Amino acid sequence: MNKKEARARITELTSELERHNYNYYVLSAPEITDFQYDLLMMELQELEKRFPEYAVSTSPTQKVGSDLAPTAQFEQLPHKYPMLSLSNSYSMDEVAAFSGRVSKGTDLPFTFSCELKFDGTAICLTYKHGKLFRALTRGDGTVGDDVTRNVMQIPSIPHTLKEGTNYPDEFEIRGEIYMPYKAFDKLNRQRELDEEQPFANPRNAASGSLKLLDPKSVRGRGLECTLYHLITQEPVAQTHIESLHLASSWGLPVSEHAKECRNVEEVEQYITYWDTRRKELPYATDGIVIKVNQLPVQTSLGYTAKSPRWATAYKFKPEEALTKLLSIDYQVGRTGAITPVANLEPVQLSGTKVKRASLHNSEQIKLMDIHIGDYVYVEKGGEIIPKITRVALEERGFDIVPVEFPVCCPVCGTPLVKDEEEAKHFCPNSDFCPPQIKGKFIHFIGRKAMDINAGEATVEQLYNKGYINVLSDLYKLTREQLLTLDKWKEKSADNFLKSLEESKKVPFERVLFALGIRYVGETTAKNLASEFKSIDAIASATREQLLATEEVGEKLADSLLSYFADDRHLSTIKELKETGLQMEIDLSKKVIESEILKGKTIVISGNFSISRDEMKALIERNSGKVGSSISGNTTYMVAGDKCGPSKLEKATKLGIEIISEEEFIKILNKQN
Ligand code: IVH
Repeated sequence: MNKKEARARITELTSELERHNYNYYVLSAPEITDFQYDLLMMELQELEKRFPEYAVSTSPTQKVGSDLAPTAQFEQLPHKYPMLSLSNSYSMDEVAAFSGRVSKGTDLPFTFSCELKFDGTAICLTYKHGKLFRALTRGDGTVGDDVTRNVMQIPSIPHTLKEGTNYPDEFEIRGEIYMPYKAFDKLNRQRELDEEQPFANPRNAASGSLKLLDPKSVRGRGLECTLYHLITQEPVAQTHIESLHLASSWGLPVSEHAKECRNVEEVEQYITYWDTRRKELPYATDGIVIKVNQLPVQTSLGYTAKSPRWATAYKFKPEEALTKLLSIDYQVGRTGAITPVANLEPVQLSGTKVKRASLHNSEQIKLMDIHIGDYVYVEKGGEIIPKITRVALEERGFDIVPVEFPVCCPVCGTPLVKDEEEAKHFCPNSDFCPPQIKGKFIHFIGRKAMDINAGEATVEQLYNKGYINVLSDLYKLTREQLLTLDKWKEKSADNFLKSLEESKKVPFERVLFALGIRYVGETTAKNLASEFKSIDAIASATREQLLATEEVGEKLADSLLSYFADDRHLSTIKELKETGLQMEIDLSKKVIESEILKGKTIVISGNFSISRDEMKALIERNSGKVGSSISGNTTYMVAGDKCGPSKLEKATKLGIEIISEEEFIKILNKQN
């Protein structure tokens, strides 16, 4: 690999890892497995080592993961000692290399303590005078969220330590809060009934539950805790295992199954044993943590910026299961995208029974040479639906049938089209294909759109009963019709009608977003609204006028033109307008503080002293436009903490002025 290629790959890996960090830490909705994530991270580390000239301090390799994005609702407090991560090992060779590094770093004799790596969310507890004083999440490793009130609702965490035991006056103990499989399944079943998005895995469910605003609701979530790292001012034990026993004698729940191993061979035996037996555990584990057992040796080895030198995590390969592919369903998504979903002979995998798996697209089916009747390997990633990873060709029998990808939409029969860029098949019949119509309603009622108090199941029922077909039908629904819905009583009907009424106050840019015009996302809707001021002006705009708008490219301009060329859309909009929806900007409500940013487009990246939404509002109140990506039209890029390196690079390349939050505030203050 030459320098140019290395640089390009580093940029690519950086932005990919940042996206996955965001999915994982902020959205609690990872798209890839930990294993795949670690591979990307390792590739980036390797490249930065080989090409140090491209290694920047903002690289994802320099950051400690954050379980919980610090949330405004919780007070953020500094950690007394930073909460670090662990280095990872994927093979016995890497474990042996870790042992070699420890031997090199100390002259003292040492053994290892091996324990399970619990797959939950890290917590740091402080006890003072035998009482639970504080519980902090990891946050960014330096500052965490104060979740004490929530943690107090977890039954296994004592509020008071056992009387008469010799605990220190003040100490910290760190561990993991996790959700056992049983509680996880129960929670997700309930969420589905309540029309809420189920959690992708027990880890996300644990971190999501810890973020609940009402501590009382935490109690019912079935969270558990296991503690694995005692930190005291004065030493209270000689070895790590002893410290766990002590903590246990004070009444604390400590890491189960910890075992002393005298050498790498014994560590290997422990790993091999648990790689199989962990499948019988009632909770998720994703590896084994190997720690130097002698605390003075730990102290002499110390820490790197990211992790202790005295410990490493051996990561298990993701669990997979072998089962038979019985048939394939083709699901039509909200945007018309066709997703093949495999029906499998039920098989046990990571604590749950798997019956369905995702196959992504026709190319993947071809690449894997999958046939109906084949035996296939399924693996659980971060998503709810597991993936088929490969075919067990050695198990192939004679009763297999080739997969025939449909040429027509399985729901409405319209011939499918293939989107080359996305390698997906689409049903183009967006206005008449039932799953797409329902999808439009689900988008319309969404929180960021019209924020109507209902979910997917309600839309499903309303559609199946023939009450709704075009968006304006929602506002024609009667109380009597609503009362015919399954389990609906007066109260739910009234709440729904009230929420429809409320939605009439939703500002124009959100109504525009809610219409679900292809490629019109939240930011584009805002830009279009502030440029054209009303739906009529957008509908009658020429291609040139549209293209002159911030961030409107050819694809989007064409999509808008074809949307507004359709009479059915125009009549729906007319009806929505007559019902009272906001179809133009309410200039009286728009608080303009200054015109100092007039004609300027500002892209923000990273974290600021105020939230990103507040930052955007500040730009808009001063007549500026918020850009979602760097382009030739960008006036400034305001770079905050942990700002995206790919954005920085692009801004530098295009010669865009990069300013700090302080400089930005100075610009705003100049005029006042
Ligand atoms: S010891 C200085 N022991 O895994 C770090 N960590 O990927 C000390 N984890 O940050 C951590 N089980 O949140 C330790 N038995 C265990 C663990 C464990 C799970 C988590 C922990 C850590 C992360 C690293």
